[in-house]
This record gives sequence, structure tokens and C-alpha cells, in this order.
Amino acid sequence: MAIFIRLLGFLRGYKSGVWWSGILAALAMVATVAIPGLTGAAIGAVQSGDRDRLRLMVILIAVAGVVRLGLTVARRLIAGRVSLGVELDLRNRVYEHLLALELGFFDQQQTGQLMSRATVDLQAVRFFLGYGLVLISQAALTLVFASVAVIVIDPLLALISLAPVPVVIWIAQRYGRQARPALQEVQQRIGELTADVQESVGGVRVVKAFAAEERREQRFRQSIARVFEQSMISTRLRAFYNPFIAFLPQLGLAALLLIGGRMVIDDRLTLAEFTAFYGYLLVLLGPMRTLGWTLGLTQRATASGARLFELLDREPRITATPGAKPLPAGSGRVELRDVTFAYGDDPGHEPSLRDVSLDVAAGTTIALVGATGSGKTTLVQLIPRLYDPTSGTVLVDGADVRDVDPHALRAQIAVVNDDPFLFSATVAENIAYARPEASREAVVEAARRAQAHDFIAELPDGYDTRVGERGLTVSGGQRQRIAIARALLADPRVLILDDATSSIDASTERQIKQGLEAAMAGRTTFVIAHRLSTIALADEIAVLDDGRLIDRGTHEELVKRSPFYQEIVQKGLPDQVFMTRKPLEPEVAGL
Ligand SMILES: Nc1ncnc2c1ncn2[C@@H]1O[C@H](COP(=O)(O)OP(=O)(O)OP(=O)(O)O)[C@@H](O)[C@H]1O
Ligand SMILES: [Mg+2]
Repeated sequence: MAIFIRLLGFLRGYKSGVWWSGILAALAMVATVAIPGLTGAAIGAVQSGDRDRLRLMVILIAVAGVVRLGLTVARRLIAGRVSLGVELDLRNRVYEHLLALELGFFDQQQTGQLMSRATVDLQAVRFFLGYGLVLISQAALTLVFASVAVIVIDPLLALISLAPVPVVIWIAQRYGRQARPALQEVQQRIGELTADVQESVGGVRVVKAFAAEERREQRFRQSIARVFEQSMISTRLRAFYNPFIAFLPQLGLAALLLIGGRMVIDDRLTLAEFTAFYGYLLVLLGPMRTLGWTLGLTQRATASGARLFELLDREPRITATPGAKPLPAGSGRVELRDVTFAYGDDPGHEPSLRDVSLDVAAGTTIALVGATGSGKTTLVQLIPRLYDPTSGTVLVDGADVRDVDPHALRAQIAVVNDDPFLFSATVAENIAYARPEASREAVVEAARRAQAHDFIAELPDGYDTRVGERGLTVSGGQRQRIAIARALLADPRVLILDDATSSIDASTERQIKQGLEAAMAGRTTFVIAHRLSTIALADEIAVLDDGRLIDRGTHEELVKRSPFYQEIVQKGLPDQVFMTRKPLEPEVAGL
């Protein structure tokens, strides 16, 4: 019920539309209810042989029909507008809310589930608010009007023929109680199905490469079967209840024929009255029949509404605190104080960072090294506040990142990771993502520094070449270079290169190096790399092991004193010129 009332809240912006649909529906109802009365009068005219009156009544019936037609068309147009408007608002709200949520939320969600909420559930809600609501009020109005009309004609007869109504309402309620959880489960399973499709399509390369189509298909078939089974449950409920709800009023009709017919024979009721009465009961039959259907619509909307509200009620956890300041002036000093961080909410979760304290002076370049899973990515993600630390503080230029407006903070921090995302837009647009107003010269300059200019110039349309959804038309290394250009163009105080050159071969990297060195000048840079050549770009090196910062110093210092670092240096030299087997690394690294 609470959900129902909250759903109605979405209509707030459409009050006049809702009122007009209601008024038009009520007027159409008057016409509908008038028709049986007029029919009765026409029969009366037939009995008394009054030709003029008969003609008049027939004309009136036709007029009532035309009026109803016009009113219904107008109502549908208005209701359609309301319905689509509600959909538009809801879509905007859901989308806006999704973007406001912090990264941690998406770690725990299946994309497909979210997509299903943003599409299937949204449809159900808007259909109900736009059409269902009016249909239900219309049905209710018809019930009231027609009941009043039959009571006026003959109270006793009305009582008998309306006897099934309370039973119908009771059954309809029972139906609703059973149908809603069933439908909610259907929506949930449709969400799972969408998630499945999304994974198969998103991961199509892996699926194909491992010839796993059959397995995916099997999984998919299971998901479909699950939707089918659950839909069958709610279909079965509907199959039983709907006709049953439609059947009961027939009993009333039969009772009317028997008792009313006798009354006419006994001259206690005129044939005209009897016909009108019968007509009203027929009018009543309509809403009773649609009652089950509209109730289904309501149940579906409430079930979907519950899923939508679940999403909308999830407050974003990383937001600007009231009175958030802009980032103070500075050149990018980054400080971590006793930072402990665990992914996920549950307290038992193993922390990925433990008591890390790290002070990086403005303008220096620091390399983070450590085994895979040691927490390097986690550490740098705390700087632009993609996550908040579980305890401890992260400061940029002396300000706690939690006190700074996240937009202002992130505008000064650029991140390039190992699998950069390119939007389906031109190369130039992708490079200018942080600064859409940047001139073409600035874009080209950034691309040159990232060693991307040459290959971009060879693309069919140069900088105006559209790259595919995930940059499928360019190679991994090219994608990384575009992403580096994007970061350089953003001109941030803090630059984070998380394995950003992992797909770039050593000789290209050597070329990028100069560009990077120029780019790193005057800003604080975090470099995460497994390669010595990249590590050599750094002034200092911090060594992470299982979430702890275990050492920090220059290359020379660490080679001498850190066995852990020595191991990385010795084993982490995979770059060799393949044919000559001559190690290129020390040369690239300038060692
Ligand atoms: N989104 C996430 N949700 C939960 N746990 C995560 C998440 N991302 C990373 N982890 C865990 O946190 C730990 C540190 O991961 P992190 O990605 O920081 O490692 P890394 O040092 O960057 O490794 P790599 O060199 O492989 O990139 C790992 O144990 C990992 O399983
Ligand atoms: Mg990583």
C-alpha cells in the first residue's frame, strides 16, 4: 500500500492531465450509463406504439454513443501523454540516481538487473499510472453509477442482482494478494535473464574463444525456463481467477431474468424498466470483468515499483558534504594517513589496505610496486575518492578528500588504467573527454605526447574516426595511448597511471617515456607497473605487500636493502627483444 501511494507521487507533475482524464472518463461514464436508460425508454415507446418518442430515443442513444466516442478518444490522448510523461520522468530519475551512486554500489550489482529495472519495471509502472489508474477509477465509477441507477428502478431487484458484487470484490482481493508476490518473482527472474544476456553479449569474445556457446545457451535456457515457470504460476492464478470473477455477475443476470421476468409477467414491473435494468447489469458486467485484469496491472506496477524504489532508496554514499569546499590551491601533494580499506560493507571483509601511511610531495613521481592483488589499484582509487577509506584519511593538498566537492577533486586527478574505456565517439572526442571545449591543436598535442598521433593520423578519418563501443577497432596498446592522451589533456595536478602502459611494447614505451616525463613535470604522478622500465620513471618507489606498505625509497636504496624489491627487479624483467633475446629493459629504463 505504501508503495502504491508512493507510485501516485509520480503523478504530481501531471495533476491537470490526471484531472482531465478523470473528468472525461466520468463524462463518458454518464453517457454509458444513460444508454440503458434510453434503451428502456425506447422499449416503452415500442409498447405504447409512440413512433415519435421511439425515434427521439434512438437519436439520443446514437448521440450518447458519439459523445462517448469523442470523450474516450480525448481521454486516451491525455492519458497517453501522462503515461509517457511519467515514463520520461522516471527514466530521468532512475538514470540520474544510477550515476549519482558510488562505484562500490556497482561492484555488487549485475548490470543486467539494473538494466531490467530501468526498462521492464519502469514500463509496468508507467502503464499503470498512465492507463491503469484511469481504467480502475472508470470501473469504480461505472459500478457506482450503474448501481445507483438500478437501485432507483427497483431496490429489491437491485439487491438480488447486485448480490455477487461483494463476493467478486472479495475474490479480486484474494487474487491480488496471491498474484503480487508471484509477479514480483517474475520481474526478478526477468532481471536475471537480462543479466544473462548482458553477460553473454558483453563477454562474447571469451565465450567464442572458449567455444562456450553451448554452455551459455544452456544457462540461458535455464534462465528462460525459470521465467517461464514463474510466469506460468501467475498465469495459472489469472486463468482461474479472471473467468471466475467474470462468471459471478452472470449469476446475478440469471437471477434478474428469473425474478424480474416474473415481476413483468405479474405486472409489478414494466417491460421498459426491466429492459433498462437488464441493460444496467450488462454495463456493470464490463468493469467486473476488467476488474481482474486491472488488478493484475496494479499488482504488477506495485511489484515493479518495489524494485524501482529499492534502487531509488539506495542513498549515494559518496556525495559532496554540505558546504563542500573547492580543492585548496596547491600542486598536488597527496597524503594517506593510517588508511585501512575493505571492499564491501560487512565487517568481516578482509581489508585490501592495512594502516597505509604515505606522504607524496607535490610534483614527485612515485611508483607503486607489489605482487598482483597487493592493493596498488585500491590505493590509487582512494585518491579521487572513488571509494572512502574504512578508517584513516586521504588528503590532497592538505584537504581531506571527504570535505572537498568530489567534482572539483576529480577535475584535478586523472586516472589511466590498464583497460581504458573508449566511448563510441570520435578519437578526438575521446581524447577531449575531460575538456570537451579543448581545441583541435590541444588534442593533437596531447596525442603527440602520448605517442598516439602517428597511428591516429593513419586511421581512415584521422582524429574524426569513430571508435567502436569499447574501442574495438583499435588495439589494446592504441587504446591505452588514447587514454594517456586523454589524461594529459585534462592537465591534472595528480596523474595516476595504473598499469597504463601494460599493452604497449617496450620500444613504443621508450618513445612515450619522453612525453610522459614531460607530462609528469610539475604534477604528482603515481605509476603502477610491473615493468622496470616504467618503474624507472619514478623518483621514488613504494612497495606494497598484501595491503601493507612495507618499504619506500629510491631504486638504488631498495635494490640494496629490500629483498622483496630485488625479487621484483630480477623476475620482473620479461621485456626482451624476442628474436635477439637481448634484454631491452635496462636500456629502456636507462639503467
Ligand atoms: N571491487 C572489488 N571488490 C572487492 N574486492 C576487490 C575489488 N577490487 C579488488 N579487490 C580485492 O582487493 C585486493 C587488492 O586488489 P587490487 O586491485 O588493489 O590489487 P592490485 O595490486 O592492483 O593488483 P594487480 O597488480 O593485479 O592490478 C585483492 O585481494 C582483490 O581481490
Ligand atoms: Mg591493479
